[in-house]
Parts: sequence; structure tokens; C-alpha cells
Amino acid sequence: MSDQLNNLKINEPKGKLGVLMPGMGAVSTTFIAGVLAIRKGIAKPFGSLTQMQHIRLGRRDENRNPLIKELIPLAELDDLYFGGWDIFEDNAYQAALKAGVLEKGLLDQVKDELEKIKPMKAVFNKKYVKKLDGTYVKKAANWYEYYEMVREDIRNFKKENGLDRMVMIWTGSTEVFMKESPVHATKASFEKAMKENHPDIAPSMVYAWAAIAEGLPYANGAPNLTADIPAMLEFAKEMGVPLAGKDFKTGQTLMKTIVAPGLKARMLGVEGWFSTNILGNRDGEVLDDPESFKTKEESKLSVLDQILQPNLYPELYENLYHKVRINYYPPRRDNKEGWDNIDIFGWLGYPMQIKIDFLCRDSILAAPIVLDLVLFMDLAKRSGFHGIQEWLSFYFKSPVHAPNVYPEHDLFIQLMKLKNTLRVMAGEKEITHLGLEYYMK
Ligand SMILES: NC(=O)c1ccc[n+]([C@@H]2O[C@H](COP(=O)([O-])OP(=O)(O)OC[C@H]3O[C@@H](n4cnc5c(N)ncnc54)[C@H](O)[C@@H]3O)[C@@H](O)[C@H]2O)c1
Repeated sequence: MSDQLNNLKINEPKGKLGVLMPGMGAVSTTFIAGVLAIRKGIAKPFGSLTQMQHIRLGRRDENRNPLIKELIPLAELDDLYFGGWDIFEDNAYQAALKAGVLEKGLLDQVKDELEKIKPMKAVFNKKYVKKLDGTYVKKAANWYEYYEMVREDIRNFKKENGLDRMVMIWTGSTEVFMKESPVHATKASFEKAMKENHPDIAPSMVYAWAAIAEGLPYANGAPNLTADIPAMLEFAKEMGVPLAGKDFKTGQTLMKTIVAPGLKARMLGVEGWFSTNILGNRDGEVLDDPESFKTKEESKLSVLDQILQPNLYPELYENLYHKVRINYYPPRRDNKEGWDNIDIFGWLGYPMQIKIDFLCRDSILAAPIVLDLVLFMDLAKRSGFHGIQEWLSFYFKSPVHAPNVYPEHDLFIQLMKLKNTLRVMAGEKEITHLGLEYYMK
């Protein structure tokens, strides 16, 4: 595989890169306004690997540590062009003000550009997001017609703005919990179901199908069942389109995937892990519906089991009681508070406790993830990668993975995977951290 990668031809990122986002709410507008502010030099891209992180190359005594963006050709921030869809007509400036994440003073400095970004009418059905009532929505007879309308939107957006390439990233609401069904099995069954307006098809799937049809890489920022079904994989393979997902790894789950690998590394047992959150943004309101919460809960719960491997370490982790709660509490708006109480035990079974109280800002943590995914998904496409991009697991709570392997949740393994992929893409050697070469002379 590495040999194949070493002979990769990566097309240069020439021209403008369009970023299309179904859902222009808190995350999306914080990302867009942030990029505009960074371009103007009035803010810094903290949290973004593509903008700030260095990557070691070769032996430690070679001292080669370029920035990731110096190693590999990534699109420039000046070449990004933004668009999307929403069920509300607000332009990006109005939506950002309503989301209440960024201060008006900052938004006003990029107001002119934000006001020009107006959403297109959405594909929406209240059955899939029960807490929202959309007014700015498309009208069609079935999912297939909606899909054709979204394709048309994508083509028009490209033409009107003179874009060279595009990516799509779902920053829309969390939909109700859905399970994979026979409808999702093949491209043929999926297309038939779209024409029959089947309830196992969700609006998010319609956007993803249109993205693939138009050759756009697609990343899923929500825990929805969308592009992680066999039909999408089949279609993405046929079209040579990269897919990534799902559910941005931001506040509490980020902490979990930092702390849990450390506890396991030291063979410390975990008896219980209670996680609760209060948040008051629109995402919190949507998650107040039990069916949308179920989608999120599944995504948040999956993390610990895989990291701690209770099958290998039954005495340490088999009886772990893991509970996750999200409480909608409007006064907090986007400034979520996530509490974790972790009951652990050590030598001879003696109990200890860890308490984490993360006063985080959801969209501030999510925005740099969106930026990195946009640039890396575009890189993947330019490199001829298609299908599941496991090397981008670093950014997701529920990394999509091949059916025969378990997902990798450990943040540090994910980072190594990401950086080694970049090294190999650039024709450099993977780094194993073995280090014996410095001592066995
Ligand atoms: N902020 C984070 O830290 C974080 C982390 C992980 C995942 N997420 C997920 O990212 C998504 C966006 O989060 P947010 O805080 O921006 O939420 P938000 O509610 O502010 O924005 C979502 C937007 O999507 C729109 N929308 C809903 N259905 C749509 C459809 N079918 N078509 C077009 N637009 C649609 C809504 O009107 C809303 O404006 C959510 O699914 C959330 O669960 C966020």
C-alpha cells in the first residue's frame, strides 16, 4: 500500500475551492466568519492542524519539522468560497448573530462578506428533526426529485462563482435515530427507494447522494446515518469520491479520547464513567428530542468500549457503567458545560475518582475541524483517494471504518495515522517511534 502511495500523483490545488454546507447554523457560521477574519489578519486559526501544526520528517536528529501545509499542497484560505442550504432564510451574518457564538464586534468586521452568503432552500422534513419548523424549503414529489434539485444547486453554485473544485460538509442538525435497512444495501435499491419516497431515506442522505453524483467529497459532521451505508460506498467508489464521518469530535468526547487511552496505558481500572452536559444552542434544542438524542447517544457511547477493550481486560473494564446525558439549558447558549465523573481503581483495587468540568465552546472547537476536513478532503480527492478516509478518524466521534475492522478511537493513534498518511503521500517514510537506531550503533 505504501508503495502505491509513494507513487501518488497529487494534483495541484489551482483555482477556487467551493465549500458547500447543508445547515448554516452555529458551527457553519463560526467556521465561515473565522476564515474570513483570519484572511483579514484579525484573528488566528487556533485549533487547526492544517494551519498551525508541524510534522516531523525522518530521524529525530535531522531536525526536519515543516508545517503540514508546507509538506503537502493544500488549498489556500484565500481560495475558499462558501455556500450552503438552510431551512431558515437568514444570511450568514444574521445566522451568526442568532447563533451567538462570536461577538458582534468581530462579525461586523467581516459583515459585508458574510451578508453575501445566502443559503439555498433546504431539503427538509420535520419527521427527521422534530424540534425544528422549516419555512425555507424546497417542494418536490419525492426524494429523487429533491436529489435532482440539489444537484442543480451544486452545478449552479459552481458556475456562478467560477469554482474549480468543491467539497460538501454536513453541518446540519442531528436527525432522528435510523438503522441500516435493505433500502441502503445497493445503489439500485437506494435509487428505487428515492423514487418511492421511502421513509428510510433522510434529507441528509439526499444531499450526500447529490454530492457523490457531482463528484464532491462528502464529510458528515453529525452522527446521522448518511454516507456510512453500503449504497453510498458503492456509488462513491464508482464516482471516485472520498467520504468521511461522522460526528465532529469536540468537547466531552475529545476529553474522553484523551483520558481513556492514558488510563488504559497504565492498566488502571474504570468502574464507572458518568458524563453529563448542559447546553442551550439550537443543537441542544434539537437534541432535546429523544429520537435525535438517541442518534447522538449511540455516537458518544461507542468510544469507551473500543478504547478500553473490555474483551482483553475483563477485570479492569468489563463492568464499566457508562452513562451519557445532554440537557437543554437555554441560558448557556453555545457555551456548553460538560461534567465527567470517572470512578477508577488501581493497585489492589483501591478506588479513586477523577472529575472533569469542561467549560467549553462547542462551535469554537468544531470550526477548525471543519476547516481541516475541507482542506484534507480536497487533498484526498486531488490524490485520487475514494471511499472511506479512515486517516481522518482524528476528527470524528464515530469514525467510519471498513466492515472487517473496528474503528480507531484513541486520539493519539488517530493522530499518528493522520500524520503517517501525510508523510507517505509526500513521499516521506512513516514514523514508527521505534527509536532503537539512536542506540544500536
Ligand atoms: N458544535 C459541536 O461541537 C458539534 C460537535 C459534533 C457534532 N455537531 C453537530 O453539527 C451539527 C451542527 O451543529 P450546530 O451547533 O451548528 O447546530 P445548529 O442548530 O446551530 O445548526 C444546524 C443548522 O442546520 C439546519 N438544518 C436542519 N436540517 C436541515 C436540512 N435538512 N437542510 C439544511 N439545513 C438544515 C438548521 O436550521 C440549523 O440552522 C449538529 O448536527 C451537531 O450535532 C456539532
